[in-house]
Amino acid sequence: MNLEQLKKELAELSDETKKAIAEIKSVDALRSLETKTVGKAGPIGSLLGKIREFSPEERGAVGQTVNLAKKELVAMFAAAMAGIKSVAADAEASKASDYDPTLPGTAVRIGCAHPVTQVQWQVEEVFQRLGFLIETGPEMETEYYNFEALNIPALHPARDMQDTFWLENNMVLRTHTSPVQVHAMQRHGAPLRVLAPGRCFRYETIDASHENTFHQVEGLMIDKHISIANLIAMMKLLLQEVFHRDLKVRLRPGYFPFVEPGFELDMSCAICGGSGCATCKQSGWIEILPCGMVHPSVLRYGGIDPEKYTGFAFGLGLTRLAMMKYGVKDIRGLNGGDMRSLVPASRLAGPVILEKAEAVKGGSSC
Ligand code: PHE
Repeated sequence: MNLEQLKKELAELSDETKKAIAEIKSVDALRSLETKTVGKAGPIGSLLGKIREFSPEERGAVGQTVNLAKKELVAMFAAAMAGIKSVAADAEASKASDYDPTLPGTAVRIGCAHPVTQVQWQVEEVFQRLGFLIETGPEMETEYYNFEALNIPALHPARDMQDTFWLENNMVLRTHTSPVQVHAMQRHGAPLRVLAPGRCFRYETIDASHENTFHQVEGLMIDKHISIANLIAMMKLLLQEVFHRDLKVRLRPGYFPFVEPGFELDMSCAICGGSGCATCKQSGWIEILPCGMVHPSVLRYGGIDPEKYTGFAFGLGLTRLAMMKYGVKDIRGLNGGDMRSLVPASRLAGPVILEKAEAVKGGSSC
């Protein structure tokens, strides 16, 4: 074999390889052809082995020629390999984006703040505008703050009005938000405007209108010359803001040891407007919140001089208010973790009845 023949053989090998590569679609097949072509056992390997058959003068040129051809072949395989890999990557990518845009989407369940939270925010907003501080107070209370400092001493029958969870450490789960009245008086002194929303607990058997865990909001306003007129004006404003209606209120006597005089405040029925319906039991009035003028002893417990200051307090049942506002008939619909109560209220026409809420699909901001 002379150099010319060798060059011809190499050129043929290059052509054949080029053709073979063009047919190949897989990485594995390409690799095996590369090994067969440029590996030791392949044509390049055997040509390199033939260098010895050439005269010593020719060997340098022969070696160079074969090595150059080998280099070109290796480059050819590398280019082909890159091509095959990018085709495979494209196929993979198109598989990933292979979706049908006409298929119905996955419904996203949009919820919103719990109705009790929404009502709480509304009440807070009204009173913040009127300069009230928002306080929370502890849910685990001492007997002193839950009862004593509210004018309910140990053997007072009024303790029976509130079925209480007593704890092993002799504390109680607060039965109402009223203890925050005394905390706030002691912390801030007079004059004082404070609103205290929060969870309360009573040892109740659960039914449609009773829960062992419920929300109240306490209101307290203390200043010079505060009278029942201020109390009525504030309560009217509050209820009008919450129900978005012009409502009438009336007071009936009510007994709570920490207020004197104490009242039950009724509002004209928001459903029938006062003409009488099933909700208000044909009376035209709905009992909405207990309230009264802060008892002088309670002011004293709070470190405030009852000769100088007077005040009113009210305890609004937030859970009850939410039930009325949204027409929820069973308290368990609100407290039992029922997701239907988290349907945005703004989606519903009129009061939120749970059966109606269920029918509402999708949601909106609330
Ligand atoms: N704390 C009372 C209750 O839960 C309600 C109340 C608050 C009454 C403030 C009068 C004044 O029953």
